Amino acid sequence: MSRRILVTSALPNANGPIHLGHMLEHVQTDIWVRFQRMRGNQTVYVCADDTHGTATMIKAEEESVTPEVLVEGIRQLHIKDFQGFLISHDNYHSTHSEENQHFSSLIYNRLQEKGLIFTKEVEQLYDSEKGLFLADRFVVGGCPKCKVEGQYGDNCEACGATYDATDLIEPKSIYSGATPELRASTHYFFDLASYTQFLKDWTRTNAVQPEIANKLSEWLDDGLRAWDISRDAPYFGFTIPGTTDKYFYVWMDAPIGYMASFQNYCNAQNDPNLQFDDFWKADSSAEVHHFIGKDIVNFHALFWPAVLDGADFRTPTKVHAHGFVTVDGTKMSKSRGTFILAEKYLEHLNPEYLRYYYAAKLNSSVDDLDINLEDFVLRVNSDLVGKVINIASRTAGFLVKNFDGSMAAEVDDSELMAKFSTQAENIAGLYEDGEFSKAVREITGLADLANQYIAHHEPWAMVKNPEQHDKVQLVCSQAINMFRFLAIFLKPILPATAEKAEEFLGVPPLTWADCDHLLSGHKINKFKPMLQRIEAKTVAQLVEASAEPAEQADGKKPAAKNKPQKSSKQKGDSSDSEYIDINDFNKVSLKVAKIISAEPVEGADKLLQLTLDVGDHQRSVFSGIKEAYNPEDLVGRLTIVVVNLAPRKMRFGVSEGMVLAAGPGGADIFLLSPDSGATPGMDVK
Ligand code: 2FM
Ligand code: ZN
Repeated sequence: MSRRILVTSALPNANGPIHLGHMLEHVQTDIWVRFQRMRGNQTVYVCADDTHGTATMIKAEEESVTPEVLVEGIRQLHIKDFQGFLISHDNYHSTHSEENQHFSSLIYNRLQEKGLIFTKEVEQLYDSEKGLFLADRFVVGGCPKCKVEGQYGDNCEACGATYDATDLIEPKSIYSGATPELRASTHYFFDLASYTQFLKDWTRTNAVQPEIANKLSEWLDDGLRAWDISRDAPYFGFTIPGTTDKYFYVWMDAPIGYMASFQNYCNAQNDPNLQFDDFWKADSSAEVHHFIGKDIVNFHALFWPAVLDGADFRTPTKVHAHGFVTVDGTKMSKSRGTFILAEKYLEHLNPEYLRYYYAAKLNSSVDDLDINLEDFVLRVNSDLVGKVINIASRTAGFLVKNFDGSMAAEVDDSELMAKFSTQAENIAGLYEDGEFSKAVREITGLADLANQYIAHHEPWAMVKNPEQHDKVQLVCSQAINMFRFLAIFLKPILPATAEKAEEFLGVPPLTWADCDHLLSGHKINKFKPMLQRIEAKTVAQLVEASAEPAEQADGKKPAAKNKPQKSSKQKGDSSDSEYIDINDFNKVSLKVAKIISAEPVEGADKLLQLTLDVGDHQRSVFSGIKEAYNPEDLVGRLTIVVVNLAPRKMRFGVSEGMVLAAGPGGADIFLLSPDSGATPGMDVK
């Protein structure tokens, strides 16, 4: 029986354009969704814009439109960008919708009936000029610890300290510049703490990736606090039932937006086989999969399952978290032109290039994904155009010209052909597990075999010899059959190219079940180019067109601080923290240290506890380098340590500093070591 699967990508904020960071997630989801559809599973993919919150309200005010008009305009732009990248959402709704209001109220009422909601007085900064309570990100001031100015109200970008907005030195509202005052108001809380054991169990059910389960277990072991789900008027959102001036916090109704979008879709389809309850009732046998960025795991793997369970709905089958996008090894940057908007990309390049490149690098881990622009050009040209498309382009002509497009009835090299058909289930398993890079490796490996076969037989030479007439048909037919397998395997990644391949092959839309047979005695059409090579200069033009000057005419860097985003550090989204000035850098005190001992830490897969000699004293530092080093090999080595990092309390003890290492992580970590001659305690300059 086929599976019933509801799939979502995180809802983009309705306060800015879609960029390549968002696109990673939607491409990842879309590949998985298209694969599931090809397998014959009933698969619905929904998304929506995440519209609520103070930021939307203020932006609408600035643009002299209602928030409703603002968010609808942005939604249309988002839809266009996603369509441009061939993302096959079945529905792209809005959290500011009837359905969302309905489910938000329903869920809240059920939680309340169960005694899971309580109220508490909360003191918060208030901008009396603007008449607004200020979330932490809307207050700036001096860091209470290091005194650096211009820090947000939750943590300091200069020294990393975390604090309450009320602790800032000379706090100012980012909206009016007024000095905020403290004001008390009643807030509504969800009793998350009572869900601790439930979540401990749930996070160990394969519902999250292992590294995420480990991170969550640190939070769960530290104990969960009640979750503040209300915000005071004025706020763009839904009022909490029974109140007139309390609104659901945007993060309360955002995930409910998944349900709302699905309900809206079910209503429009009016199909007895597609019923909301079948997917969302507590004992549903359908699956619900959320694809998200690693920065919003707490909302999806703690709050969301708890709220769902509290409201008698099913919990997600799986939350699939991915890392951030970097370009050429660094955070996407507006000044370097690597903060690339979806729309801008589409003005220069084919969306399938990026879909392929993302697929070729995506796996089921939460590691960041780097777009190396040179590698991007090389891989697309050599793998897709040079290997895959080439198979059809070098053989189809002989069939069309000499055999009226008819393929042979027999297979020339059945052993080679079997390699393709027997890979079908293996590749399917890799797609299922989100191991797209491995799937791509298998597929390009098969393309290599096909090209070797063609090169070996040289149909272009055989065709000159009338005695080899039949062999030309056999060889080219085999090539076309191998090409057809590759088209099936790549279809989730390259839907438009697969469509062109279907037209060329003269076959109905390919599904995974088509792996069970070959084309024999079948007639193909004339080959037409399916994908062009990328020119490196086109990529350079895209980067140039995306670059924003780092400095404005007045000599200042563009201010990003007055454009608050709900979650600040996600998706490479801010250009303001790209540089630190020399004063910030000078605050970091680096010293040479000698490793006196290195011990594994019980219960931590990645950590070693290092005892360091830093000249005049010793320190204990926890370092995530266990996968890369045998502890005993480290003893006696010199390394570099940040000595003025505030001690951090971890689950396993206090870490007094940080050792410096390079590399992407896992086993590829390289401890930085000074040349011999350095001695413990030396300053690093
Ligand atoms: O982080 C974000 O961009 C949020 N708008 C994601 C919301 S996902 C879900 F919870 F709605
Ligand atoms: Zn600070």
